[in-house]
Amino acid sequence: MRMYDIIAKKRDGKELTKEEIDFFVTGYTKGDIPDYQASAFCMAIYFQGMTEEERANLTMAMVHSGDTIDLSSIAGVKVDKHSTGGVGDTTTLVLAPLVASLDVPVAKMSGRGLGYTGGTIDKLESVPGFHVEIDNAEFIKLVNENKVAVIGQSGNLTPADKKLYSLRDVTATVNSIPLIASSIMSKKIAAGADAICLDVKTGAGAFMKNIEDAKELAQAMVSIGNRVGRNTMAVISDMSQPLGRAIGNGLEVKEAIETLSGNGPLDLTELSLTLGSQMVYLAGKASSLEDARAKLEESIRSGKALDKFKTFLKSQGGNEEIVDNPDLLPQASYKFELEAQEDGYIKEIVADEIGNAAMLLGAGRATKESEIDLAVGLVLNKKIGDPVQKGESMITIYANQPDVEAIKQKLYNNITVTTNKVEPPKLIHEIVKQ
Ligand code: URA
Ligand code: CA
Repeated sequence: MRMYDIIAKKRDGKELTKEEIDFFVTGYTKGDIPDYQASAFCMAIYFQGMTEEERANLTMAMVHSGDTIDLSSIAGVKVDKHSTGGVGDTTTLVLAPLVASLDVPVAKMSGRGLGYTGGTIDKLESVPGFHVEIDNAEFIKLVNENKVAVIGQSGNLTPADKKLYSLRDVTATVNSIPLIASSIMSKKIAAGADAICLDVKTGAGAFMKNIEDAKELAQAMVSIGNRVGRNTMAVISDMSQPLGRAIGNGLEVKEAIETLSGNGPLDLTELSLTLGSQMVYLAGKASSLEDARAKLEESIRSGKALDKFKTFLKSQGGNEEIVDNPDLLPQASYKFELEAQEDGYIKEIVADEIGNAAMLLGAGRATKESEIDLAVGLVLNKKIGDPVQKGESMITIYANQPDVEAIKQKLYNNITVTTNKVEPPKLIHEIVKQ
């Protein structure tokens, strides 16, 4: 087999066999196939696409390019959740303990991540003492005992994806549905998931800016998952404005506590219940989605979900007292209010730009080397559709710097107030299943 022929075949729009795809992934991971051939191949895929069969084969080839996590010693159906990423997306912090409180095992491998705020691990590390440096045996033991544990990315998972993603990044081939879908799914499958619940975001703060693209990505991932024997579904949710109110690491932990107590923002609560119901149902712990939702709501009402969060934090060295006393979370030195300059209704809160403002405060990493400030960030006191009066605070800014004028200006530039009443955006656009 020659890489040249495989590139030409894809260039001409023909379907590749499993053997051809395996040949590419194995050869490229080992370094036998050079970057220039892999680049041409990705570009051919970019223009010609891939059939569902090819996508599934590419995904599994990447899964087998490195280590995989074996979760078979954990009892029950391991359902993983994945978000394509957004601004102030606090859902994993809520979902992990919430779903675990119904005895659904949550064995989560998470990242630190680049971007507007830290990843789930950074957020959790704002809890004093919490750590994710546990070995696989301890990880599995914790999930069996408590139904929930979070571990940092360990081992050599999907090296083919790592290498290919870096190449795509510099060859204008990131934005290809088959390549994105196989990249995301390979990581979930290598991490040991039996079933996968995807949250595909759409809007200004999302990777997929419009609903059509989000839907296509969701369908591509759902198809791959189900073809390779992982029960997979996707929710397409709004990311035109940030999710919930808090954007920032410690601030999002506080928001998760509020949500687990039943006092969280409506959109974050609704999305958590929607995704959570799907996870509980996929795990076989409810007879229907309605039943799953009722059980989750009861878990919040009874305090069981919050107790599970405490157990989870404590089991990984975290100070669980932050749950009853969130002031024990890292606190910023300065607090500023972004006051409305006129009366009206909030029409737009541009998610990505608001996220960038949070990053400028230090809540996120601009590069892999940047240090995160776990205390800083933004809290939206108003969301799209809310009425606002001149002088009222639209956003509270938590900073560790005395001067935030430039950040305030950026925020003003990205919040629109209008005189006409505004409908809040639809939160859940669609549920994609096979
Ligand atoms: N996120 C991924 O993990 N992979 C992609 O290809 C794009 C986004
Ligand atoms: Ca949030």
